[in-house]
Amino acid sequence: NTKRKPIVIANWKLNGGLELICTSVASFIGKHFEADIAICPPYIYMRDMLTFLQHSEISIGSQNVSKFKSGAYTGETSAQMLKEAGCKLCLIGHSERRSMFKENNLSCQIKIGNALNHGLMPILCVGENKEEHDAKITKDVIFRQVTECLEGVELDGRKICIAYEPIWAIGTGASATPEIAQDVHSFIRQELIKLYGEETANSIRLLYGGSVTKDNAKDLLAKEDVDGLLVGGASLDPGHFLAICQHA
Ligand code: G3P
Repeated sequence: NTKRKPIVIANWKLNGGLELICTSVASFIGKHFEADIAICPPYIYMRDMLTFLQHSEISIGSQNVSKFKSGAYTGETSAQMLKEAGCKLCLIGHSERRSMFKENNLSCQIKIGNALNHGLMPILCVGENKEEHDAKITKDVIFRQVTECLEGVELDGRKICIAYEPIWAIGTGASATPEIAQDVHSFIRQELIKLYGEETANSIRLLYGGSVTKDNAKDLLAKEDVDGLLVGGASLDPGHFLAICQHA
């Protein structure tokens, strides 16, 4: 882990409101972190959070980005708009978007291109479901997701992160063990080496997500290829999220 700066990202999903914004801002302002820290609130709160956190070390990210650039696409928000608003990164292909909003590897690939072209750092989410996990085909699933989402994606020095979020661990309280996370992350790293060569692959940060808490964060981050954490439920409690960030 000495090569890569850790990164911790909060994904608020469809949660939060003015009260959470205020308590989060109060907890994070004026603090120094060894890791990169970002919060992905619902779109509607981004501008407020950006204003409140402008002198802090916290970045703001989005939970999604449109695959379209502009036009008649009701309800969408483009990469360019997110960039203009002050966003630094965006989650792409979260399992909830794949399962409930029909996203697939091809749409992720387009979104990654849009994000990179507008200077947003994509956080590509991948992960197998419970059935696939039980059938021990995790690596086949991850291989397909990684190779199809990154097909034709040229990095040219631009940054991307990959978040491994096993679906069976999301919101269940049953986090993957640090060993499982490391095993899958090192597999992803090997695939990235094939796609981008050793130097680039070794610079890409791999995050783990799925029931991360302040109690398991340290052991997960201790693994060689676990370079960061993507936190859902525990990020809705600012004190808890702060404790996780301080482990990184
Ligand atoms: O994107 C983060 C997320 O899916 C994990 O959620 O609640 O298990 O930390 P949670």
